[in-house]
Amino acid sequence: MTPLDLVVRHARVATAADVFDADIGIAGGRIVALAQGLPVAPREIDAAGRVVTPGGVDAHCHLDQPMPPPARMADDFASGTRAAACGGTTTVIPFAAQEKGASLRAAVDDYHRRAEGRAHVDYAFHLIVSDPTPPVLSQELPALIAEGYTSFKVYMTYDDLKLDDGQILDVLAVARQHGAMAMIHAENADCIEWLTKRLEAAGRTAPRFHAHARPMLVEREATHRAIALAELVDVPILIVHVSGREAVEQIRWARAQGLSVFAETCPQYLFLTAADLGIDDSYLGAKCVCSPPPRDASNQQVIWHALADGLFTVFSSDHAPFKYDAPEGKKPGGQEVAFRHIPNGIPGLETRMPLLYSEGVLKGRLTLEKFVELTATNPAKAYGLHPRKGTIAIGSDADLVVWGEGERVLRNEHLHHAVDYTPYEGMKLQAWPALTLAAGEVVWDGTQFHPRAGRGRFLRCGPPTLRPRTSP
Ligand code: URP
Ligand code: ZN
Ligand code: ZN
Repeated sequence: MTPLDLVVRHARVATAADVFDADIGIAGGRIVALAQGLPVAPREIDAAGRVVTPGGVDAHCHLDQPMPPPARMADDFASGTRAAACGGTTTVIPFAAQEKGASLRAAVDDYHRRAEGRAHVDYAFHLIVSDPTPPVLSQELPALIAEGYTSFKVYMTYDDLKLDDGQILDVLAVARQHGAMAMIHAENADCIEWLTKRLEAAGRTAPRFHAHARPMLVEREATHRAIALAELVDVPILIVHVSGREAVEQIRWARAQGLSVFAETCPQYLFLTAADLGIDDSYLGAKCVCSPPPRDASNQQVIWHALADGLFTVFSSDHAPFKYDAPEGKKPGGQEVAFRHIPNGIPGLETRMPLLYSEGVLKGRLTLEKFVELTATNPAKAYGLHPRKGTIAIGSDADLVVWGEGERVLRNEHLHHAVDYTPYEGMKLQAWPALTLAAGEVVWDGTQFHPRAGRGRFLRCGPPTLRPRTSP
């Protein structure tokens, strides 16, 4: 047997398939043994019967992504991966975003420069395709897929990113030909613009009107259209940040037709509602401006059910970190601006796992296996990182979370991101990572972060290995 560097003893090991008692033997940063009564190793951690899950894979987060000025993301690879580690996430997949008029390769090279030597946990890149020119489609994208960038996001909204249907079809055809995963932001841009102009003309520009400009039907229509485009090309797709019932119904319908449509949801659709954007015209609602916007309590229930019954494939943070009280954040140039100008997105990398564990597993809404599947195993499979990531198995990286239970009140001052607020301030958590290991190294011990910038390695992704989902 390989000599062990570290044993995590008396673990209640949770995978997407099983929960069982074992010691976890680690050598060279990988799991090499799973059994009871493993021999003593130079380093020992007693999990004392506590639940141990795979380190989380946050497959949708934005870190140091270039923005149109004056907006600037608060988290770079250092602070973002610090927050990730302290919240039990050991792999992040942010986005190398192509600028319109520039090459995709340039975006990837620039993004490597931003990440290099800074990350505390491992990372891979998705691509954002915003300008699918013939050279991008025929050369850059296929070459990048072959090099390990096997997933890309396309937007149906946002002026600087959106593609029209013909462009989306072109990009989906490349995904099909080269076996990549296409992620789709599904909201109808023209409907949003039409509604926004009417709201502005009526003087309705406070943050809360962001939700009025993006009602569920604009998401429903775009979700249906994305499904139709994927059906035409005959390629699997993954619809990101699904917010509520009408989009869920479209995805259920697609599955019932036998179409391979995967779906992602995020904490904001479980724990926030449109009321968090303001019940009056207070600017504080800007903190919760994200797209699609949070809906209402009945939509939250739909999302919970769809997490439990397998409709959702992955649970990501969509961490898009902008400070509230900052000219580069939610107050562009230092001003309280009309909702159209508020940078979209909310922070959530550190709170994703503990919120779902507390409110999902400990409140009986999700099994432990489902929690692991949604937060680690499926994201690793969807983006070609499994079984190195996303599971506790012989040969997998020793990325582990030992869970502690007990009430904690969520306060931004306790978090490790560089954002000046959390939308979940004051929520009571019943569980929190008591220990996070990344490749066998302690990165978070329950109270202290253990920094080692550059510990995080760039991961080249393989092809997606999710099985086609045609039910429920
Ligand atoms: O509001 C959001 N979700 N901002 C981040 C960018 C995106 O569309 O995911
Ligand atoms: Zn999006
Ligand atoms: Zn996003």
